[in-house]
Amino acid sequence: MNAIVKQLTGLRDWVDDRFPLMKLWNEHLAQYYAPKNFNFWYYFGVLALVVFVIQILTGIWLVMNYKPDAAEAFASVEYIMRDVEWGWLIRYMHSTGASAFFVVVYLHMFRALLYGSYQKPRELLWILGMLLYLSLMAEAFMGYLLPWGQMSFWGAQVIISLFGAIPFVGEALSTLIRGDYVVSDITLNRFFSLHVIALPFAIAGLVVLHIIALHEVGSNNPDGVEIKKHKGADGKPLDGIPFHPYYTVKDSVGIVVFLMLFSIVVFFAPEMGGYFLEANNFIPADPLKTPEHIAPVWYFTPYYSILRANTVNFFWLDAKLWGVVFMGLGVMILFLLPWLDKSEVRSIRYRGKIYKTALGIFVVSFLILGYLGILPPTPGRTLVAQICTVIYFLFFLLMPIYSKLDKTLPVPDRVTH
Ligand code: HEM
Repeated sequence: MNAIVKQLTGLRDWVDDRFPLMKLWNEHLAQYYAPKNFNFWYYFGVLALVVFVIQILTGIWLVMNYKPDAAEAFASVEYIMRDVEWGWLIRYMHSTGASAFFVVVYLHMFRALLYGSYQKPRELLWILGMLLYLSLMAEAFMGYLLPWGQMSFWGAQVIISLFGAIPFVGEALSTLIRGDYVVSDITLNRFFSLHVIALPFAIAGLVVLHIIALHEVGSNNPDGVEIKKHKGADGKPLDGIPFHPYYTVKDSVGIVVFLMLFSIVVFFAPEMGGYFLEANNFIPADPLKTPEHIAPVWYFTPYYSILRANTVNFFWLDAKLWGVVFMGLGVMILFLLPWLDKSEVRSIRYRGKIYKTALGIFVVSFLILGYLGILPPTPGRTLVAQICTVIYFLFFLLMPIYSKLDKTLPVPDRVTH
């Protein structure tokens, strides 16, 4: 045993003389001091990493049998499901992983709203997170075309043709994205390339930048107090503990629980009643037959609702274009959050009633928008979507005012338990 340890230590030292292995280990794990009061909400960053790894691994194995060809794609997915050994498991892990990614990332973002994690000095960390969110949306959208089912085809057709609403350049832009006048084999090929190579690289790179930015400024925490303000004689934050072993062990528990829940979905409800895999996508794409009801997967539906909510032609531009504009602004406005929030305090624990109420109403409206986006529109539903869209935007646009007016509680000097 001793001999093995000695050999391993020797190998480590050999690498360390040529590569800053221990320096990186210490900087980011063993000597990275994280606040000691992390709670449930702090599991989701590491869970996003876990899902990313699941997606990359299952993706690599899917590509071994998938054919990015309009004539063969649908059948190749069926082949994976029926004939490839364990193919069904790999495919269901990947399709469930897509939804799990968004569940985890939405909760991760909500945590930032709870504890003001985007506030100074974490603005850039937030922006990198938002770029990750945009890349994930693009990744999921392009991945959904690959099985070449009815929903893949018509979903892509509807969303890409939205760009056509942009004056002057719209039609040319849609054609540029599709590479053709309709969604076709050419579109499938370029989406495959972007889904499998370009976007995963971009996401991996952004994750690295996200973590570097986080470790530069240090983690926020449920009290929203800066742990660097109180350091011991050894220069270490008094309210901090080394990430390794404390949080590596704690996170392992979260990962195991997550994998248990993930497995339950993969083995017992991979379609999740049509929310994760839509019924229409088990029918091969047919460019001549439009499905009666086209809806994106659940994680896009809040924005899809915002898109459909606008039914009025403002100025000389038509309602559809305004829908596209509002949908785009709906996502983009999140980038501005660090500058819209003027509150003196970070954590919801010390904020006043106004912010708590505003956040509660915002979350309910976001969920209603998501639910309505799954359903076909009716006049009543459109009205509710319009109200929720207004609330969605007011939450952000009025934030500079109400976050300043809000009566906050005194923030403790040190973290609480
Ligand atoms: C692939 C997607 C993502 C991965 C792998 C990821 C990973 C992480 C990890 C490991 C942490 C530290 C642990 C934690 O605080 O939970 C973190 C923190 C953070 N992330 Fe992400 N993240 C992702 C997406 C996002 C998105 C979409 C946003 C927001 C738009 C975001 C904003 C933040 C913020 C503000 C923090 C600091 C939180 C605090 O210290 O309170 N991240 N992220």
